[in-house]
Amino acid sequence: MPILFDDGKKLFTIHTANTTYQFMAGPYGFLLHLYYGKRIENQDMSYLIINRDRGFSGNPYDAGCDRTFSLDTLPLEYPAAGTGDFRTCAASVINPDGSLVLDPRYSGYTIHKGKYSLKGLPALYEEQEGEAETLAVTLLDSVCGLEIQLLYGVFAEKDIITRAVIFTNRGSNTIRLTKALSLNVDFLYGEFDFVHFHGRHNMERQFERIPLMQGTQSISSNRGTSSHQHNPGIILCGKNTGEDHGDCYGFNLVYSGNFSARAEVDQTGQTRVSMGMDYEGFCFSLGEGESFTSPEAVMCHSSRGFAALSHRFHRVYRHNLCRGRYQFGPRPVLVNNWEATYFNFDGQKLIQIAAKAAKLGIDMLVMDDGWFGGRNCDNSSLGDWFVNEKKLGMSLKTLAEEVNKRGLKFGLWLEPEMISEDSDLYRKNPRWVILPPDRRPVRSRNQLVLDMSQEQVRNYLFERICAILDSANIEYVKWDMNRSINGWYSPSLSAERQGELPHRYMLGLYELLEKLTKKYPHIMFEGCSGGGGRFDPGMLHYHPQIWCSDNTDAVARLKIQYGTSFFYPASTVGSHVSAVPNHQNGRTTPLKTRCITALPGSFGYELDITALDAEEVQTVSFWTAQYKKLQPLIYEGLYYRLLSPFEPHGISAWQFVSPDKSCTLLCTAASDVQANPQNLRIALKGLDANKTYFCNDRSYTGAALMHGGFVLPGFAGDYPAEMLYFES
Ligand code: GLA
Repeated sequence: MPILFDDGKKLFTIHTANTTYQFMAGPYGFLLHLYYGKRIENQDMSYLIINRDRGFSGNPYDAGCDRTFSLDTLPLEYPAAGTGDFRTCAASVINPDGSLVLDPRYSGYTIHKGKYSLKGLPALYEEQEGEAETLAVTLLDSVCGLEIQLLYGVFAEKDIITRAVIFTNRGSNTIRLTKALSLNVDFLYGEFDFVHFHGRHNMERQFERIPLMQGTQSISSNRGTSSHQHNPGIILCGKNTGEDHGDCYGFNLVYSGNFSARAEVDQTGQTRVSMGMDYEGFCFSLGEGESFTSPEAVMCHSSRGFAALSHRFHRVYRHNLCRGRYQFGPRPVLVNNWEATYFNFDGQKLIQIAAKAAKLGIDMLVMDDGWFGGRNCDNSSLGDWFVNEKKLGMSLKTLAEEVNKRGLKFGLWLEPEMISEDSDLYRKNPRWVILPPDRRPVRSRNQLVLDMSQEQVRNYLFERICAILDSANIEYVKWDMNRSINGWYSPSLSAERQGELPHRYMLGLYELLEKLTKKYPHIMFEGCSGGGGRFDPGMLHYHPQIWCSDNTDAVARLKIQYGTSFFYPASTVGSHVSAVPNHQNGRTTPLKTRCITALPGSFGYELDITALDAEEVQTVSFWTAQYKKLQPLIYEGLYYRLLSPFEPHGISAWQFVSPDKSCTLLCTAASDVQANPQNLRIALKGLDANKTYFCNDRSYTGAALMHGGFVLPGFAGDYPAEMLYFES
């Protein structure tokens, strides 16, 4: 039984294979957090709490004259606003009388087999029946009537606990929810570093590790997407934690919109972590009997460093988050025409690319932006999802057939959530966009945003997209989204409800994606938002892969993919080989290096393959074949970060090990080469010490490779890379 309840002590203990999470309904019904970390058996951890009288930390009335009992210093399971805890709270309201106090107390619990699901929101699911258990703990504020149900989904064998919260108004007057986080964890003791993944367009998920100090470290997005700038995943770790040792905690939000994640070190040295939807401007009205459901947060603890933490996230995302026919693979190697042609193409050009691609072993052609309405640059036609047959010189059906005849599958690009002012759709329906009345919009890439909370908008998109998908043999869709959202206003919501719009936008988007992915199970959907601006677990529930970045430079990708790998498995990472000089930063790297760095992901090409010379043709054919052979290892194997691209040595290295440890792939790439270099030895990881592995006609025991290590070939020239395959 992973979830235990001690009735006498009102003590909740959640065990996973290697971790324990504990909290209790303490005095006066306050929920106290006790422990999260390495597994501990048969122990009430409340002995860790030592109450003291601390000045300016007040005491609830119920505590009488006990000046040592203060919510300001106790570790709390789900802190609410206005109760004398002055740290970051997880929930706040505006009561019917306008006051801001929320005082929820324990009122009951249920435990049931299976994993809860969340209405309209992406969430982890059970791979096999009986794999997970759910704990639901109910709190009630008896004055305003707000019920708060804390949900815990326990994937014991996978060491994963999920969190979500459902708020229900049991009173008769409207309560306005102004903060509704998904997760709070109070750490009574310990000094932590904070790891997060910041960035920008063309440079997403840059790893940063900083010490937590007194005060608050926070990351967030208010852009309507999870964003390029911050990813909704943070790690708290011990000062000495590394890839293979030490404690670390990962927290990741299954949501693709505005979010906030914070870590606060308080006056007593405790650390509070909280995560959920961003609350700036958030206000959700709950009438009598109405509910609000928060997105899900996923948490995991590893006492064996970052590698084990990543392995657990990778496994649960592949098996319990991604869905559909392409969840596990195999996935096609694709060629996308964006960087090959931009808007300048017709059907014949694409057929030529397909014909050449077939000879190189590529499986699918993707027609990117520019095939619809009058779209010949990025200033027009978004929303007019009608094929531009004049430009293509043929119908979509014919184009797909011609591509299929050459042995390739066919896919296309869509950007459904957006609208151009220069479009028939906008001319007809100006009130379908997100824009307050009497104000002028902020343009971004010259486009506006459709109001996904409006049913008529979703219906239009569903009907139009189905018409396109039904009109030809389309087996792939790249679902793009190319701007941040501001100026939130929907004509379909009353004035008091405008603060609900960012979340209602997400609910509308998820609903549309759910309908489409259900209706077209044979289509592989790839997510995209100017590359990796919406690379999050929410989107992975609908798209098994996401275009990782618009930056296709091999050297920049080393850092982007390194950061991405902490939470997200290689199978989710769309990575393509592009032309040189690179279109984003002008750098020239060897084709082999571009292939090796694109390999740890969902591989493809983004260049004009009709322009390759004979040697390049050979290289591309070789790496396409290599990738196809290696895809199962890359998808199912354990991923190890060996050398970080953020270190000054200028060498990156990573490794995949097959689940049965029979083979391993070692990849290295140099962003800096030195004269008269020191020999570089790398200790491989995760092998069977007793197996003998063969590589390039030499043999090594697993123990030798892991403890003695492997000496890398000397690197010379511009941006070299090497891949070595060891088989037992
Ligand atoms: C975004 C995507 C690119 C490409 C263009 C097309 O920037 O990230 O891959 O599809 O849009 O406009």
